[in-house]
Amino acid sequence: MNKDDTRIIFATGNSGKMREIRMIMADLGLEICSMKEAGIELEIVENGTSFEENAMIKAAAIAREVKRRGGHAVVLADDSGLEVDYLNKEPGIYSARYMGEDTSYTVKNANIISRLAGVPDEKRTARFVCVIAAVFTDGASYSRRAVIEGRIGYEEKGENGFGYDPIFYLPEYGCSSAELSSEEKNRISHRGKALEAMKEVIREEMGL
Ligand code: IMP
Repeated sequence: MNKDDTRIIFATGNSGKMREIRMIMADLGLEICSMKEAGIELEIVENGTSFEENAMIKAAAIAREVKRRGGHAVVLADDSGLEVDYLNKEPGIYSARYMGEDTSYTVKNANIISRLAGVPDEKRTARFVCVIAAVFTDGASYSRRAVIEGRIGYEEKGENGFGYDPIFYLPEYGCSSAELSSEEKNRISHRGKALEAMKEVIREEMGL
């Protein structure tokens, strides 16, 4: 595969994720664009039963569209979420849809805290999971999973990040993931680590 005729399309509409992937993938020296920048608008139904399936559904759908248009690109997609052990790994793949897509995270976070009322520290374990899927121009596909382990806190803390960050307590850092700077979070996060792992796959697959 030739580095000059290939770019990376990241299947997301989320500008925060785009910023992160641009930072992490910059040293590959490839053009990196969002679906929107690639002029692709697709409604994708995420009906998989695992993070891997949902990430691959998104990457494969975009890759099909790129091919249909006669283009070339490595297509990446991610799927991520929060698993709370005491809640049988809920909300898991339904993290964005938990209590309804439009429900605020203040409400979602308060609900999770209330479902853990009276649960001691050692049983409040949880993790953020991220899977990055990639489909290459020759049809080869890969996925990489990474996690960051933590505990559900007792109240929201911190103003950075998004989603469940304010209730995700990191014992080694003594703060919630919403109290980390974005650089610190990228360095240790599920998404940062999964993207780093995928970068190695891209290097190998493309001979960079
Ligand atoms: P996705 O965009 O379909 O992967 O949805 C993932 C959902 O999981 C997000 O909407 C958040 O609710 C949650 N989530 C994933 N990663 C994080 C994170 O780093 N911090 C906070 N919430 C996250």
